[in-house]
Amino acid sequence: MKFFIDTADVDEIRRAHDLGLVDGVTTNPSLVAKSGREFKDVIKEISAIVNGPISAEVIATDAEGMIREGRELVKINPDNIVIKVPMTEDGLKATRVFSEEGIRTNVTLVFSPLQALLAAKAGASYISPFVGRLDDVGHDGMEGIDEIRTILDNYGYPAEIIVASVRSPLHVLRAALIGADICTIPFGVIMQLCKHPLTDIGIEKFLADWGKQGI
Ligand code: E4P
Repeated sequence: MKFFIDTADVDEIRRAHDLGLVDGVTTNPSLVAKSGREFKDVIKEISAIVNGPISAEVIATDAEGMIREGRELVKINPDNIVIKVPMTEDGLKATRVFSEEGIRTNVTLVFSPLQALLAAKAGASYISPFVGRLDDVGHDGMEGIDEIRTILDNYGYPAEIIVASVRSPLHVLRAALIGADICTIPFGVIMQLCKHPLTDIGIEKFLADWGKQGI
């Protein structure tokens, strides 16, 4: 499974990248706003660090505006920039146009397997179902991932599933068991994946035992 990092914080991206764990990056308007930096500058800096898909989201809500913004954003790094488009009627229209132009898309804010099917039919390269936000309203977000996997496999759609809105290591585990292509993970959760208290206790014990020998 590929790991994308879900942040617009370049320091976090650098740290995770140095661990060899970053296959791509997803950003969204909230994450960019949190960074307090100019959108295109952030995307440019990220694409100098990571050689992989970097999702940059459009702000327009009409297809024409999305297409205009997307064509501009992709110029930052045509090899790596993926245009993130919301799962709306206009988003689907824009996705179709981008797909015909060879511009890769990440259809975001997907909350049901049927929305994922529409995104796949529109020619999306990536589909981002938000599992954490579904959990937040009392649904099991991961259940939908299983169904989306089946739908894409049934018809051989090339779209890749990005499990998004990840809140905990358990989401990553379940995504891997289902066979999701990608998980986009916040920095804090990536770090949690490395950790196990028994690893730390084990190291302490090995070192203590070694010290007893007086070598
Ligand atoms: C994914 O592309 C989104 O940016 C992100 O995963 C949303 O996560 P959130 O629900 O924690 O805001």
